[in-house]
Amino acid sequence: MTLFDLQTAQTELESKNPRTILKAALAHFDNIAISFSGAEDVVLIDMALQIRKDIQVFTLDTGRLHPETYRFIEQVRKHYQVDIDVLSPNREQLDAFVKTKGLFSFYDDGHQECCGIRKVEPLRRKLATLDAWITGQRKDQSLDTRGEIPEVQADTAFAGAGKTLIKFNPLLNWTSTQVWDYIEAYQVPFNELHRKGYISIGCEPCTRPVLPNQHERAGRWWWEDAAKKECGLHAGNVKSD
Ligand code: ADX
Ligand code: SF4
Repeated sequence: MTLFDLQTAQTELESKNPRTILKAALAHFDNIAISFSGAEDVVLIDMALQIRKDIQVFTLDTGRLHPETYRFIEQVRKHYQVDIDVLSPNREQLDAFVKTKGLFSFYDDGHQECCGIRKVEPLRRKLATLDAWITGQRKDQSLDTRGEIPEVQADTAFAGAGKTLIKFNPLLNWTSTQVWDYIEAYQVPFNELHRKGYISIGCEPCTRPVLPNQHERAGRWWWEDAAKKECGLHAGNVKSD
């Protein structure tokens, strides 16, 4: 493993295809994991396994995913014979939150608090054990918040004190069509919800199918402002006003 220089890596990887970015990520870091949402980012697992067999994969089980998504995560585990770390929220925090605010507070006062407990805290705990992580973010997923994500970046939002955490976004330059061409061409398993009109998939109460020609994230937290459609996993994408 050569010494990792972020600037050099970004210059070398700029506008490269997903496989090249993944290859570089997996060559540079041993302690690196794919963050798998249970949606079309499954292509990352498919590609990564062709590069290295011992990949780490984790998923954030918010407790509020669709049954289809739980079944899909299990299908992926079996299909690829890969261990998937299924991460739960902190029980005490979650119990206290639900006790005081109920199960649907996000419709009244926004998704940040619930996402903070069900997604961000478990992610922070996981990332504290890693040197780098890999996400399925794409520029075309959101015109407001993801238009400028780079191939590789220092994740300052989740790096622990005195630690550098590197984040790779191999799919960033691919369009949704390219992802789906890959899924079709290589017969990659996919979440049944995609057959039911869902494009972007998150938690069940906060995701709905989109209409033809609607942007894919229109179905996520649809009662909120488009600019706020980030749950905190990719906090660095949101620019403060
Ligand atoms: S989100 O922030 O709005 O929920 P999105 O669904 O677009 O994210 O997914 C973008 C990437 O974030 C995924 O490809 C994945 O890497 C990561 N991600 C999102 N949700 C999860 C999850 N529940 N578990 C693990 N990773 C996730
Ligand atoms: Fe809670 Fe909705 Fe965020 Fe899931 S997406 S963690 S249910 S607010």
